[in-house]
Amino acid sequence: MRMVDLIEKKRDGLELTTEEIQFIINGYTDGSIPDYQVSALTMAIFFQGMSDKERADLTMAMVESGDRIDLSAVEGIKVDKHSTGGVGDTTTLVLGPLVASVGVPVAKMSGRGLGHTGGTIDKLESVAGFHVELEKEEFINLVNKNKVAVIGQSGNLTPADKKLYALRDVTATVDSIPLIASSIMSKKIAAGADAIVLDVKTGAGAFMKSIEDSRKLAHAMVQIGNNVGRKTMAVISDMSQPLGFAIGNALEVKEAIDTLKGQGPKDLTELCLTLGSYMVYLAKKAESLDQARQMLETVINNGEALETFKTFLSSQGGDPSVVDDPSNLPQAKFTFELEAKQDGYVSEMVADEIGTAAMILGAGRATKESEIDLAVGLVLNKKVGDPVKKGESLVTLYSNFEDVEEVKVKLYNNIMISESKVNPPTLIYEEITE
Ligand code: URA
Ligand code: CA
Repeated sequence: MRMVDLIEKKRDGLELTTEEIQFIINGYTDGSIPDYQVSALTMAIFFQGMSDKERADLTMAMVESGDRIDLSAVEGIKVDKHSTGGVGDTTTLVLGPLVASVGVPVAKMSGRGLGHTGGTIDKLESVAGFHVELEKEEFINLVNKNKVAVIGQSGNLTPADKKLYALRDVTATVDSIPLIASSIMSKKIAAGADAIVLDVKTGAGAFMKSIEDSRKLAHAMVQIGNNVGRKTMAVISDMSQPLGFAIGNALEVKEAIDTLKGQGPKDLTELCLTLGSYMVYLAKKAESLDQARQMLETVINNGEALETFKTFLSSQGGDPSVVDDPSNLPQAKFTFELEAKQDGYVSEMVADEIGTAAMILGAGRATKESEIDLAVGLVLNKKVGDPVKKGESLVTLYSNFEDVEEVKVKLYNNIMISESKVNPPTLIYEEITE
C-alpha cells in the first residue's frame, strides 16, 4: 500500500477500506507516514467527508493505536458521559454520585485541562485531602464497592488522536465533523466505555457555536457509537449562557452538593436528570427513560445521592464534612457584587466571555503551566429571562485580590438588560435516543 494512492483516492471522493484506514493510522503512529502526507489526507477528508463505515473504522483504528483501559473487573455495564465543554458545567460532579446511587458503575478517568475553570479533578481537589492517584486495583475495588471512583489520566491512550489533533490544529482541519466525532469517540472507547452519553453544547460558550453544526456533530457521534457496538445517546444543550449559577472550582463543588440535595439551579438539575436517565437506561438499570428519571429523583429526595457523594469523597481521602458544611471548602478573601445599572430583564449572558472573566480571577488555566485558585470564581444571581431591579446584584465575584475592575468591566460588557420581557433560552434542543 502507498500513502500517496490513498490520498488520491480520498481526494477523488472514493471510500477508503478498513485495511487502508488501519494502514494510515498505524503508519502515522509509528512515524513511517510523515506529517505532510497526513496533512494532505486530512484536507481531502475536510472537503470530501467520510462515510459511516469510514468513520467507524477511523475511530477503532485510533482506539487500537495505544493502550486501552480494561474495566472488565468492574461489575455491570460501564456508561461514560462526555460533554463537548462549556462554561460552569457542573454536570460530571453531580452525575457521578447520582447515577452511582441507583447502581450504575461510574469508573471515571479524568484530567485537569485548560479552560475557564479546572477540570473535574481540579474541582474535586478543592475538597481537602481528595486525591486521584490510585492504583488500578484500588480504583476497580472502589468502583465495585461504592459504584463511583475517579482516577487521574494515565497510560498511552489514543496516541494517533493526539498526533492527528495537533496536526489538524496547524493545518486548518479541526473543523471537520467526521474527524471531530471519531476523535472524541475513540478516547471514550479507549477509556473502557461500554455505552456512551453525549452532551453536545451549542451557543457562545460551546465548541460548536451554531445549532446546525452541533446537530451534525451529535448525530455523527451517535452513529459511530452504535456502529462500533457502543450504545450511544446524546442531547444538544444550551451553552449561550453558563450552566447553573457557579463558575469556579470550589464554588461548583458547592453547587453540585446543592443539586444532589435537590436545591440546585433549575437548568443544571434538569440537564443532570436527562443525562442521568440516559446513563441509567443504557446501564440496563431501568426499563425506560421515564423509570430511570424517577429512580434518580427518588435518590435525590431521600438523601442517598448525597450520602454516595460523601462516601465517594472520603474513600479517596477527601474531607466529607464539606457536604454538610460547605464553608469547609476553600474560601476567597473578598466578595464583590456586580450591581445592575437599570431595571429590566436579563437578555443575554455571553457564556464564553463570562468564563474568561472567571479565568481572570484565577479559576482557570490560561496555559498548561498556570496555577489555578480553587476558591475563586463567579456566582450568577440572575439568568437570562430573570427580571432585575437597578442596584440588585447580577453576579457575585469571589476573589483573592482586591482590584477586580477589569473583571467587572468584562461582565458589564457581556450581560445585557432589556426593557421588555425576555424568555429564558431553550435548555435542551434535541434528544437523540435511538
Ligand atoms: N475535541 C476533540 O477531542 N477532538 C476534536 O477533534 C475536536 C474537539
Ligand atoms: Ca455551574
